[in-house]
Amino acid sequence: MDRVKAEAEKIKILVVGGGAREHALAWKLAQSPRAGQIFVAPGNPGLEIMTSLTPLKADDLDGLTQFALERNIGLTVIGPEVPLALGLADQMEKAGLTVFGPRAAAARLESSKPFAKDFMTRHGVPTAAYRVFNSQDEALAYLNDRPEGPQVVKAAGLAQGKGVTVAGSRAEAKQAVREALAGRFGPAGREVVIEDFIEGEEVSLLAFTDGQIIVPMLPVQDHKRLGEGDTGPNTGGMGAYCPVAAYTPEVARQVEAAIIQPTLEGLKAEGLDYRGCLYFGLMLPPPGSAGGPVVIEYNARFGDPETEVLMPLLKSDLVEIMLACAQRRLAGQTIEWSDETAVCVVMASGGYPGDYQTGLVITESVPSVVGASLAFHAGTAVNEYREIVTSGGRVITVAAKDATLEQALFIAYDRVRSIYFKNSYHRRDIAHRELARRSK
Ligand code: AMP
Ligand code: GLY
Repeated sequence: MDRVKAEAEKIKILVVGGGAREHALAWKLAQSPRAGQIFVAPGNPGLEIMTSLTPLKADDLDGLTQFALERNIGLTVIGPEVPLALGLADQMEKAGLTVFGPRAAAARLESSKPFAKDFMTRHGVPTAAYRVFNSQDEALAYLNDRPEGPQVVKAAGLAQGKGVTVAGSRAEAKQAVREALAGRFGPAGREVVIEDFIEGEEVSLLAFTDGQIIVPMLPVQDHKRLGEGDTGPNTGGMGAYCPVAAYTPEVARQVEAAIIQPTLEGLKAEGLDYRGCLYFGLMLPPPGSAGGPVVIEYNARFGDPETEVLMPLLKSDLVEIMLACAQRRLAGQTIEWSDETAVCVVMASGGYPGDYQTGLVITESVPSVVGASLAFHAGTAVNEYREIVTSGGRVITVAAKDATLEQALFIAYDRVRSIYFKNSYHRRDIAHRELARRSK
């Protein structure tokens, strides 16, 4: 599109959310010639420099809809799962707004694990064998009948990424069932899914969809565990790299045929209006084993930190892509990616994902771009002295891209070392699987 036309067709954009994911999305949206003023609700101090923040919470459906109408917002991008599950897309579209993000009924692919598992069963999407329980006695009896060994216990509803226990033994699985049903995750855990443990390598495959077609992005590998060597408790994600060599063209063909197409057919058959980002959490079978890839979970949104490596590699205009999704014309849209490698490292508060201190001063303002590195804010705030301080578990995601993985890692870790706050923690082994593959 030529500049003059683009200038005339600028639209105002609202991004809902305030994490590193939304920072990365807003950073990419801002590069579009179609992007007029960008608002973020509620945003974070890193976004304050490049966008206009509005103090509306992500779950304030009425407030956000009213704001978008008053400001004549031409595109609303919903980042987190909670507003999607609450029906923000439904409400905004009813008001005549253009929205990137699925309706609540379609977002149940993430907000209800029983719904997602039953959907996969109905449409032949490969997933771990499972049962759903709301009775403790029945769940424990089921575990007694399972062979001794790992089982996965999941709260049925949204639990801020904390509702899943990968139990190494029957006793541990029973404990997880008791805790969930006793209310550890509130209403989200009144029902539990118990599923078989699947071995393999996890890959996050995010995709754009307009409900008519699904276009996968590049494969990303997150690092869910807190500790190096993939040890310790599960977190929201401690870092990522993209692309992933284990996701070969052959695997991509299998995923397209056995997972993406049946999912699309299922959405259509059930009349689920899905226009947004659909995230396939995949488990690839260990090399040499017979089975194909399976779906561990769907998410109804972009992943965090996956987005922080995908956005630097996206060459096409994100505003155009998102509008094409929202307006059901994705087939005509070009989506091009850089052939470089991107990595990101999450800097977290010491103690996360358990208890941690907040209000710790960060020794610089952490601008988005320094040299070849990028920094996306998550749990940061501004204190009374106008200093940037920590305010959450995952504080800042540092990202970099380069022609080589090694150089991208070098740039990212170099920047990480320059950002200081007390008790800061990050993993030093991001992309270790990829590095090990290469050294073979
Ligand atoms: P979920 O929120 O369903 O993605 O689960 C969180 C994490 O638990 C996943 O990213 C996996 O690392 C792990 N997980 C979940 N389900 C399984 C499974 N069936 N087998 C092995 N690991 C699993
Ligand atoms: N990084 C995992 C997620 O966003 O769910």
